[in-house]
Amino acid sequence: MLKPAESSVALSPLIANRWSPRSFDAVAEISDTDIAAILEAGRWSPSTSNQQPWRFIVAKRGDSHFENLTKNFAGFNATWAPSASALILVVAVTTNEDGSVRPFALYDAGLASAFMTMEANHRGIAVHPIAGFNRDEVKAEFSLPDNYSQTAILVMGKQAPAEHLDNEVLLEREKAPRVRLPLAEIVIAGLPAA
Ligand SMILES: Cc1cc2nc3c(=O)[nH]c(=O)nc-3n(C[C@H](O)[C@H](O)[C@H](O)COP(=O)(O)O)c2cc1C
Repeated sequence: MLKPAESSVALSPLIANRWSPRSFDAVAEISDTDIAAILEAGRWSPSTSNQQPWRFIVAKRGDSHFENLTKNFAGFNATWAPSASALILVVAVTTNEDGSVRPFALYDAGLASAFMTMEANHRGIAVHPIAGFNRDEVKAEFSLPDNYSQTAILVMGKQAPAEHLDNEVLLEREKAPRVRLPLAEIVIAGLPAA
């Protein structure tokens, strides 16, 4: 199902057609080549002083990492997200070696997530980021240090028809139009005339 962005000016198809579906094919698999390409996209995103503060936990359906992440999904994420083929938890290292804070680590990790999302979409792989999971459990499971801030899990796989969702609320959300605030509301200064 396509839900292209309605924009005042035409966007690149990759940007316009990206959206976050919840209906995934529960048997489709992602190749290691695709996973590697997605990780490379994150690796090659920009970061503050080239600090590259992102760290990734990669899980494929059927492996122990996938089990360890999916069992910690919160709320309704636990109902749909386990059907995905792979998960990438994006973590930000929030301090330097001397203990000083990296103020833009989360920004950098978000950029890497965006790059990975676009590379995945380019390869025909749908992505849905989720922040709803139990961070304390995941921290313990993967022995993450205190300065590793868990951002979101990129839930990815082959998009399935909306009707494959057996939950009425989720089905409604899957079919709902995508909405955004108007440019006039989010541009503080310098709104273009176009
Ligand atoms: C950091 C972050 C956390 C999110 N967490 C969840 C989540 O826990 N569960 C969920 O269903 N969607 C989650 N989303 C998806 C957003 O709801 C979605 O991106 C937003 O509604 C815009 O829709 P679109 O991505 O289809 O354009 C999250 C998105 C981001 C960027």
